[in-house]
Amino acid sequence: MTSTADGTGLDAVGTDIVGTDDVSLERELDQLLAVERFDPPPDFVSRWYRPADAAAAAADPPAFWAEQARTLLDWDTPFTTVLDDSNPPFYRWFTDGRLNVSANCLDRHVAAGRGDKVAIHWVGEEGERRRVTYSDLLADTQRLANGLKELGVGKGDVVGIFLPMIPEVAVAMLACARIGAVHNVVFGGFAPSAVRERMEVSDAKVLITVDGARRKGRTAPVKEAVDAELGDLKALEHIVVVRSTGIAAPIREGRDVWYHELLERADPVAPPEPLDAEHPLFILYSSGSTAKPKGILHTTGGYLTGATYTHRLVFDLDADSDVYWCSADVGWITGHSYIVYGPLSNGATSVMFEGAPDYPDRDIWWKIIEECKVTIFYTAPTAIRTCIKWGPQYPGRHDLSSLRLLGTVGEPINPKAWLWYHKVIGGGRCPIVDTWWQTETGAILISPLPGVTSTKPGSATTPLPGIFPALLSEDGQPVTEGTGVLVITKPWPSMLRTLYRDDERYVQTYFSRFGRDVYVVGDAARLDADGYFWIIGRIDDVINVSGHRLSTAEVESAIVSHELVAEAAVVAQSDEQTGQAIVAFVTLTGNQSGDDATIAELREHVATRIGKLARPKRVIWADDLPKTRSGKIMRRLLRDIAEGRELGDVTTLRDPDVVAALAGKVAQADADE
Ligand code: WT7
Repeated sequence: MTSTADGTGLDAVGTDIVGTDDVSLERELDQLLAVERFDPPPDFVSRWYRPADAAAAAADPPAFWAEQARTLLDWDTPFTTVLDDSNPPFYRWFTDGRLNVSANCLDRHVAAGRGDKVAIHWVGEEGERRRVTYSDLLADTQRLANGLKELGVGKGDVVGIFLPMIPEVAVAMLACARIGAVHNVVFGGFAPSAVRERMEVSDAKVLITVDGARRKGRTAPVKEAVDAELGDLKALEHIVVVRSTGIAAPIREGRDVWYHELLERADPVAPPEPLDAEHPLFILYSSGSTAKPKGILHTTGGYLTGATYTHRLVFDLDADSDVYWCSADVGWITGHSYIVYGPLSNGATSVMFEGAPDYPDRDIWWKIIEECKVTIFYTAPTAIRTCIKWGPQYPGRHDLSSLRLLGTVGEPINPKAWLWYHKVIGGGRCPIVDTWWQTETGAILISPLPGVTSTKPGSATTPLPGIFPALLSEDGQPVTEGTGVLVITKPWPSMLRTLYRDDERYVQTYFSRFGRDVYVVGDAARLDADGYFWIIGRIDDVINVSGHRLSTAEVESAIVSHELVAEAAVVAQSDEQTGQAIVAFVTLTGNQSGDDATIAELREHVATRIGKLARPKRVIWADDLPKTRSGKIMRRLLRDIAEGRELGDVTTLRDPDVVAALAGKVAQADADE
């Protein structure tokens, strides 16, 4: 094993990286691949980590979490019960305490004299800037809270949010939290029909959306598209429309209201409602093994404890001096916990960027980091790989010396991408936190602590204090070294509480395989001799495309809803850029054979049903699919075919010739690329 004294690897291989040509960079990264372990830079001292915390968390986890909840958050009524584990897996935390999330994110900072501090430094696609202070956010949040009440929204009602990356999205979430409404944010990249489904299954009473959204210089109408899909939804009583781009938006008298008009006429004062710690804060739909998305439910006290604690510790946050930027979209859990709730609860200054990483040019991220003097940057491996493809000249144009810490999330990061991030973006000086977690976990569970944990490129390293992951073999035996199924053996405050209106599916999905007190993550992982976790990937029918979770069943049902399609099976194929890519094996009706135009049509069809991110990268026409004698599609074989692997056991196949034909077609498609 090799590691370098200063943890950077620089002394081993030279220092000048940015500005060098691709060939020498390539050579340097190859050399760095031999470095197995990077020790923390000696001058990086963690602000928040105390070794005593780890010991305390190990000795008495609930007491440790109670301490975090008490010191990090303001409570209207302090709790006396820490953890109610009388009915697993329905765990309840801090049950008799009361608090308000928006008061913790806004009022307490304003009351402490930090009202003029910038909460969100917004950067628009065309270079526009908006500096939104904590006082600004509080003022708008109060007015919108009153506006929502005027529209009949009360405690426990569901409010949909379908907005692009504009500050109003944070206001919308916080206004819900202020009055105890439950928000249901839908990622702006989803198709309106996916919005409809998520509003329908959650009985959303109000939807907050926008006139239009900008993307790479073009403006697309959003309100109009929403109307076309959701116009007839019974439970949806009102639509609030943010005027963002100025594009024409139909307003239906009586049902629709402009956001700015609602705010203008609303009372400016809305005291935060003290809510039970277990009051629902939000639902976020995520993909699972079936076509029906899962409504992951998070509650007030435990979730905010997790988001606040981890954001401060993992990102080593100094709220007074750091400028923090998470490049995710608010529509994912990363945006909920690490753009909105964690940073605001901690009183941080964040950058929020509206646009794409390649508009107006491929250096826009690095330009923003230079101009805003970003100190902490958090992004996804897929984005890093895209930047690698574009070349080091784009970051090379900018001064990135303000950066002191880098993070990644969403999928395993390949060592080469880690090293590129470390060298080209981090200048060899910034620790990298590879943070493993899920929509369900609410907050980061496994991650290095900067300045504390030695990192190994590709490993999320070790659990945070108070978190107890383990690997189990197929038959439930503990694996101390080697690969296994990842589980969490003790409850933690920010864990999901249930699947919205589906307790049974909650138990079935997460707590049935190894008993009612063992949370089954859905990932396989490897544990090395140092006790480091290496996440391998999903073990269910979930595909991770660019860090976005998609269900094979959901994509299949979108494809078969096309009139030409008889049958479809969807599997993942490894992809250099996106981690995994979607491959669809499709049989058309009436023995038709498909052509390129049909492929384009099917991809477009999936885009309108789910969203562009679910479009299959590759469509393979199949005369037949490999099936067992009982007619079950053997996805395992399709995965082997897609990966170009030796086929596994084919003896149970009804017609073994089918797989050979498909394997030939995939090989041909790979060769054509
Ligand atoms: C799945 C959760 C958590 C926010 C983004 C995704 C994969 C997540 C890592 C990581 C390896 C990772 C897992 C997990 N994943 N982070 N650092 N290393 N894999 O949230 O959509 O709920 O997906 O993403 O497979 O189960 P999500």
